[in-house]
Amino acid sequence: MMTTQFQTTQFQTTQSRVTSDVIDFGVGHPSAALLPRALLQAAAAQRLSQPDVTLLQYGLEQGDEYFRHTLAGFLSRQYGTPVDRSELFVSAGVSQALDLICTLYTQPGDVVFVEEPTYFLALHIFANHHLTVRAIDTDSHGLDIDALEQALASQRPTLLYLVPTHQNPSGATLPQERRQRLVALSQRDNFLIVADEVYHLLSYTAAPPPPLATAAASGQVLALGSFSKILAPGLRLGWVQASPTHLQRLAGAGLLASGGGLNPFTSALVALLLEQGQQEQHLEELRQVYRRRIVALDRALQQQLGEQVRYTVPEGGYFFWVQLPDSLDSEQLLAQAARCKVGFRPGSRFSSRGALGNFLRLSFAFYEPEPLQEGIHRLQTALAASC
Ligand SMILES: Cc1ncc(COP(=O)(O)O)c(C=O)c1O
Repeated sequence: MMTTQFQTTQFQTTQSRVTSDVIDFGVGHPSAALLPRALLQAAAAQRLSQPDVTLLQYGLEQGDEYFRHTLAGFLSRQYGTPVDRSELFVSAGVSQALDLICTLYTQPGDVVFVEEPTYFLALHIFANHHLTVRAIDTDSHGLDIDALEQALASQRPTLLYLVPTHQNPSGATLPQERRQRLVALSQRDNFLIVADEVYHLLSYTAAPPPPLATAAASGQVLALGSFSKILAPGLRLGWVQASPTHLQRLAGAGLLASGGGLNPFTSALVALLLEQGQQEQHLEELRQVYRRRIVALDRALQQQLGEQVRYTVPEGGYFFWVQLPDSLDSEQLLAQAARCKVGFRPGSRFSSRGALGNFLRLSFAFYEPEPLQEGIHRLQTALAASC
């Protein structure tokens, strides 16, 4: 019998193409050592030893019911508020859910309000759907609700997309009072809030305000969650929490009529990790690891870049959002940084207005403390043009 040995070096397998001699703070992925290979190996062995083969069948449109049951239990414990499986739709991650929502809820030319800065790849999805994006200002507490109210005076969006907790890139978290005003405005002016809560469970200090998912019953909020940041992005597994009308609309999409519910195989494995408490344990380990990386990156920034940079130490999520002097353009700095073997995401990519050129986003999720420190040293040499 012929056996095949899979060699990761032989083929391109992952989205990021970082070579080992470069430290790229641009990569918003978990480091390889944090990926739960052993947990999934055990879950796969356990589940595939059972005679029930439904995980290999076309799935229920709303998503595997047992998985939704275990997910609802996990979310109830994490949020401290009861969540029922009937409120959940299984997605293939936040990106897929966002794309499906655009397909079902928007027409080309419709307006979508986003934060400034915003998650840049959401802009790519909105562009695919030919939506008109309008940026709403934020401050250190996230979306500026007064600025939103002003914008609403002249334009009604179909959707408002935001990352309310530990925002990508700014790290800001929207306080409870602003969340309540936002929902009230969406009711008053009849637009849908798409809350991307991908970092909500990655909080490293105090608990954040309740997720916008807790306002889903209002019918104004579609709350998107994902296992990408709390387990593994390759699973392509997430969820939408929304009111029954929205769930029916999502589950009624042609995509699911034809292909069945999303990711029944992966759902069945992750259900075991949720049921057996391993997801919770893994999440706690991630929080500890990321706390240490934040300390290391903060120290390196203070020691090596000092007065040159301004930032708020993040309380969750994946990123430091760093402000350089106004005269600097981080897009231009990128070429010099590449010569110094360091990378980052330039701030302008997160602006739908072509602004924020003097910011850069640094991810602490992909590297251990030592390369994080070395990377900041390289960034310092890039800023001094001395490499
Ligand atoms: C704000 C935000 N939304 C969505 C995603 C992608 O999520 P998923 O892997 O669930 O599609 C990311 C990943 O970086 C993100 O930062």
